[in-house]
Amino acid sequence: MRIGVLTGGGDCPGLNAVIRAVVRKGVASYGHEFVGFREGWRGPLEGISRPLGIAEVRGILPRGGTILGSSRTNPFKIENGVERIKENLAAQGVDALIAIGGEDTLGVATKLHELDVKVVGVPKTIDNDLGATDYTFGFDTAVNIAMEAIDRLHTTAESHHRTLVVEVMGRHAGWIALHAGLAGGANVILLPERKFDIDQVAGYVEKRFQHQYAPIVVVAEGAHPLDGQMVLQNQEVDSFGHVRLGGIGQWLAEQLEAKTGKEARTVVLGHIQRGGTPSAFDRVLATRLGLQAIDAAHEGDWGKMVALQSTDIVRVPLAEATRELKTVPLERYAEAEVFFGS
Ligand code: F6P
Repeated sequence: MRIGVLTGGGDCPGLNAVIRAVVRKGVASYGHEFVGFREGWRGPLEGISRPLGIAEVRGILPRGGTILGSSRTNPFKIENGVERIKENLAAQGVDALIAIGGEDTLGVATKLHELDVKVVGVPKTIDNDLGATDYTFGFDTAVNIAMEAIDRLHTTAESHHRTLVVEVMGRHAGWIALHAGLAGGANVILLPERKFDIDQVAGYVEKRFQHQYAPIVVVAEGAHPLDGQMVLQNQEVDSFGHVRLGGIGQWLAEQLEAKTGKEARTVVLGHIQRGGTPSAFDRVLATRLGLQAIDAAHEGDWGKMVALQSTDIVRVPLAEATRELKTVPLERYAEAEVFFGS
């Protein structure tokens, strides 16, 4: 077979490890050929590709980003998008696709499968918000980056008796905030899944100062107060209908400073969480998902997403995996709450 590989949506560490595993096993064990489609769905939509063989994937295991490039292109929002993809696949002699992406990229893969495109999906995202898989690769690396930042912020916050608010990514899921906050010993963690009471947060912050320690408040970009809205960077939506989040950290610091009388500053970690080399956990997960994806393609098991369940890599229907976002259950939040304010 000649198989096209693409990476779509926001990049994350581990994408290259998947590409490498797919190509290495696909060529060596099965004798398949590969084509790398550039920039997510824009590649097959516009017929932009590059060679992808063993030579092209050498040395990429530890590299962040994606050698194929990425974009948030939605072919279903473009006139004749699906027909153009089908034509370009035929023109390049491509029999099937392995799509590596999050809810948007795999949502497109789900619909294309229903329209007879042969496709296998691989879940990625730092947000860890895809259903049917226990973890997505990229998440562990992002959490470790945020945890290290929190560790560093503890010492400087204490030197200056300041509140430091750390805003992390995650869109509408609080996984990064929850895990980085727990691992970093945050004083308070605020998630999109549970609206917060600003007076209660100020109370936790004051209590922490009473113990002679400075508080670190970890806030997910999608978190919002009981009587307020999510803070947006602007009103624009991308081709999947997403707004750009960010700014809640600054708002929170201003509120906490006013309510506690103690200086409060904000650190927005932003894309640092998505950059650089993947953690060992993410390299192994990405590699195992890549191996399972090429097995699925070789067997003609189309319309599946490979997934981590417990310690096994399994296959689940793409439709099931993309049905709804996996958000943080409130009982997981309750575990973190034990440490708030103390
Ligand atoms: O989905 C990954 C993610 O990093 C989110 O956490 C964040 O809200 C979004 O992408 C940012 O997207 P962009 O890089 O397009 O601004």
